[in-house]
Amino acid sequence: MAHIKKINHIAIAVSDIDSSLGFWRDALGLKVDHIEDVPSQKSKVVFMPVGDSEVELVNPTSADTGVAKFIEKNGGGMHHLCFEVDDIDEMLSELKAKNVRLINETALELPGRKMAFIHPKSTNGVLVELYQII
Ligand code: CO
Repeated sequence: MAHIKKINHIAIAVSDIDSSLGFWRDALGLKVDHIEDVPSQKSKVVFMPVGDSEVELVNPTSADTGVAKFIEKNGGGMHHLCFEVDDIDEMLSELKAKNVRLINETALELPGRKMAFIHPKSTNGVLVELYQII
């Protein structure tokens, strides 16, 4: 059976990085580890470590991404929660067997990691990302 190791990150959709940092960094006191352009997700991401996890501020750089549409609809906010698992393929087949609706039936392979999303219809409305470091 696959296991969840920790919350890897919580992603927050933002339309403006500078004004978001006014709260998350300046008022709340989170430290910015780095800000990165992530072309594969058409977004710019601010990585802010919190213990063993991270808060990520995701700022879409293109209007045709899921995050951009989410901001258009909701004005930003918590976008997804990411669990790091020890075996994502095993986790996906276990979830499938339990009739959980998946966005990605098989894990997407990226350099250094595999990932997949669970459909919010199965998770009380929370978009859940699964992540395995490889
Ligand atoms: Co994520």
